[in-house]
Amino acid sequence: MANDNKLQNIIAHCKEYGFIFQSSEIYDGLAAVYDYGQYGAELKKNIRDYWWRSMTQMHDNIVGIDAAIFMHPTVWKASGHVDNFSDPMIDNKDSKKRYRVDHLIEAHAETLAKEDAEALLQKMDSLLAENDFAGLKALIEDNKIKCAVSGTGNWTDVRQFNLMFSTEMGSVADDADKVYLRPETAQGIFVNFLNVQKSGRMKIPFGIAQTGKAFRNEIVARGFIFRMREFEQMEMQFFVRPGTQKEWYEYWKDTRMKWHLSLGIPADHYRFHDHVKLAHYADAACDIEYDFPMGFKEVEGVHSRTDFDLKAHQEYSGKKLTYFDTEINQHYVPYVIETSIGLDRAVMMVLSEAYAEEDLSTAEKQDSRVVLKLPPKVAPIKLAILPLLKKDGLPEIARELLEECRTYFKCFYEEKDTIGKRYRRQDAIGTPFCVTIDHQTKEDQTVTIRYRDTMTQERIPIASVKELVMQAIQAF
Ligand code: GAP
Repeated sequence: MANDNKLQNIIAHCKEYGFIFQSSEIYDGLAAVYDYGQYGAELKKNIRDYWWRSMTQMHDNIVGIDAAIFMHPTVWKASGHVDNFSDPMIDNKDSKKRYRVDHLIEAHAETLAKEDAEALLQKMDSLLAENDFAGLKALIEDNKIKCAVSGTGNWTDVRQFNLMFSTEMGSVADDADKVYLRPETAQGIFVNFLNVQKSGRMKIPFGIAQTGKAFRNEIVARGFIFRMREFEQMEMQFFVRPGTQKEWYEYWKDTRMKWHLSLGIPADHYRFHDHVKLAHYADAACDIEYDFPMGFKEVEGVHSRTDFDLKAHQEYSGKKLTYFDTEINQHYVPYVIETSIGLDRAVMMVLSEAYAEEDLSTAEKQDSRVVLKLPPKVAPIKLAILPLLKKDGLPEIARELLEECRTYFKCFYEEKDTIGKRYRRQDAIGTPFCVTIDHQTKEDQTVTIRYRDTMTQERIPIASVKELVMQAIQAF
């Protein structure tokens, strides 16, 4: 399957099977905004829960919070987002279409031979690092990069555009009431640093985790749920003693990669990408990239954010944000290592990895299936319970099993259609186990269990079904 097709097929599959829909689809959609359907919402929640537990349950020294989306407007001045959260953009004068400069050049690089592409991207990286906008425009013109809509190279100068959405709070629409929709969840953690540290008697090093919506007015938003205007982040800020940030940075790179591998995704589908151009707050940063159908792209960032944010909030709020370290008898503003993963990108990563089209044809007949080989711990439905017939007491036995299991994990009960059709529908939504209740169940209390990935079947005691599923979905 060509990779372009794979992405299109995944998008179509997500719609057909209730994972992801375009927002407001009946009104022709809203660009780069998506809704999660019945199975997508379960998958997303399971990934969020898995991340949350890996942070707050599996570490003694990490706690979770849930800060509001709206924050005092000065937060975004202090964080640097008002002045710096912008991307260099360029407009095509003929089509009036606006492009992020790096995306425009990257898209062109994909059409070049490997060596030429690398040289172009290297040049782009150094111009971006120097904020050399004239140089970037010249690079676009020298490479004869054209607008995909007008087909011309009639470009404006490169300019910076802020990516934050704003709205007004209260009834008077003046500047004082302007509030932003948060572009990252991290700042809700920084402004609560002392509240959590004091109320939780936290000792450095410690972390604060949070998941929640973030909003960015992305100019070029594409790639399905890869780049959205409304999305969800899962972020953790780890507060450390100044001078120890390098070792904690390495620790979190390693720990986060282990989390990714624990999703059953092979190591060679990931790579680290060190940042050349560091954000205004960082002294080291890297991306964890996954090999999406459109190539290796960032799914998570690990950033050594120094003491930039706490110091800035200290300055703008006039409140002390220091910590007294009893081990060394010193007050200081802690340094921070941040891990920041996009939940929607994680969903897209898991779906890309799981999606498979399999040819099951034999000499006798043509056959195929589409299956989502999702890790059981994040699959929307863990167990499908399928009575072979709608009569002879089989539904009653099946419903008894359903009642036994449903308080522990999400089950699906279905009586309709042939068993083969029911299996295929469960394959398509990624259910790892199906059990069929038949006449033999009445005699010897066994059921047929069918394994999604291998399609093999075996008979097991009905009494052992719950335990088998529990073992497979155990997260840690
Ligand atoms: N607090 C740091 C921060 O926000 P970032 O690299 O801008 O860093 C972190 O974003 C993660 O959020 C990214 O790795 C990506 O997974 C996700 N993300 C960022 N912008 C996104 C967008 N427009 N749509 C979907 N996910 C996005």
